[in-house]
Amino acid sequence: MIDTHAHLDFPQYDQDREEVIKRAFDSGLEALINISVDLIACTKSIELARKHEKIYTSVGIHPHDAGKFDDNTHESLRKLAGEKKVVAIGESGLDFYRDYSPREAQIRAFEAQIDLAKELNLPLIVHIRNAHREGLDILEQKQDGRLQGVLHCFSGSLSDAKRGLALGFYLAFGGSLTFPKSRVQEIIKHVPRDRILSETDCPYITPVPHRGKRNEPSYVRYVVKKMVEILPPLSFKDVDEITTKNARGIFKI
Ligand code: NI
Repeated sequence: MIDTHAHLDFPQYDQDREEVIKRAFDSGLEALINISVDLIACTKSIELARKHEKIYTSVGIHPHDAGKFDDNTHESLRKLAGEKKVVAIGESGLDFYRDYSPREAQIRAFEAQIDLAKELNLPLIVHIRNAHREGLDILEQKQDGRLQGVLHCFSGSLSDAKRGLALGFYLAFGGSLTFPKSRVQEIIKHVPRDRILSETDCPYITPVPHRGKRNEPSYVRYVVKKMVEILPPLSFKDVDEITTKNARGIFKI
């Protein structure tokens, strides 16, 4: 198993970060990608990756922080991306649900990070919330054969999923897949198995049976278990192997 989207640098882990990491790898996790949301997170994530063999990281600016994105940020990201164990750009995208940053700033930061991912030949981690049409339009305009990436915590419709797949992207599923009557339970059935990734997005979106509490990478197994229920006749071992292989493929780890 691989958790392709964790935020272990967040303050929610300040009291017990090393224990959480130990639990993750004791539970059978082969690797985890710690995803950065701003420049401070990038530095912390790179430190975590230096310290732990099986932790990798991304560098990027979340749409919530896109208001702060400027030319200097762009340059800093380019430099940080050269650090060892940086395997992706992001998370980047559009969040028109929270709208914490002006939409124009979100679009600018998203486009700049798409260009950076293409330039550096790194996959892009995409966060889209209530902005699937706009986000996919931009990705389609920018796709020239060089862009690879992940639609993280996929929450769109079936037609959004199809557009993402046509772009060559992977779709990552996390805790929301385990929620009763979650719409993504139907959508994942239409996703080719070689494009499915598992993730937690911890500390958020905690899967059943721990829903409502803090999430952590060891809980990615509940997501894999749910995939097994939804995707017969695959066994736990099958889904574990498929999602692990997919993650190793896209992140080259
Ligand atoms: Ni995230």
